[in-house]
Amino acid sequence: IIKACIFDLDGVIVDTAVYHYKAWKRLANELGFDFSEEANEKLKGVSRVRSLELILQWGGIAKTKAEQEELATKKNAWYVDMISHMTPAEILPGAKEFVEACREAGLKIALGSASKNSGMILEKVGITNLFDAVIDGNKVSKAKPDPEVFLKGAEALNVPPAECVVFEDAIAGIEAAINGGMKSVGIGSPDVLGKADLVISGLNEMSLEKLNTL
Ligand code: BG6
Ligand code: MG
Repeated sequence: IIKACIFDLDGVIVDTAVYHYKAWKRLANELGFDFSEEANEKLKGVSRVRSLELILQWGGIAKTKAEQEELATKKNAWYVDMISHMTPAEILPGAKEFVEACREAGLKIALGSASKNSGMILEKVGITNLFDAVIDGNKVSKAKPDPEVFLKGAEALNVPPAECVVFEDAIAGIEAAINGGMKSVGIGSPDVLGKADLVISGLNEMSLEKLNTL
């Protein structure tokens, strides 16, 4: 029986991937190259540091650790500037309604995100109070597919992993849920997220009935 839901943020509750993409693209362009929207898929669910490593690799550019830190900080400043203008209208269809339905049914709710900016995003779109626990990039040291972020979420909610469901749009996130011994629902394409227990195109397709079949 399911007692808790753990939600990824970017791509599940809000579509911030477009802002990450714009900011990384601007950085790559400043360094003299570009990368495609298709390549950008590889950055989803991946930490800031690792994203930069991949991008520099695509551009064939070598940078010292100190330079990388500077570049990541620069990208983040652009990103923060964009997300600081977010409004509740940017919550993905059905996301808020489904989380509220879970709460009303007595389920515990946590956020499990790689982002260090999750607090600001939740505030901007006005849903901070829907979460019993927020575990994000500031609280974990191991990136998905390591299950750390979701295990910390389950622990904070005081629910055993086997009674938790993870909602994720990234393959690394589905793997993290599996590695943590949790159920998972993929948000996106079955071609990519086939390992999940259920794949839907968005939380507008989710219901408590479907949750109970997991
Ligand atoms: C994840 C995103 O949720 O957070 C990644 O899918 C992003 O694209 C990562 O790189 C880290 O985010 P931030 O906000 O800490 O740079
Ligand atoms: Mg995501």
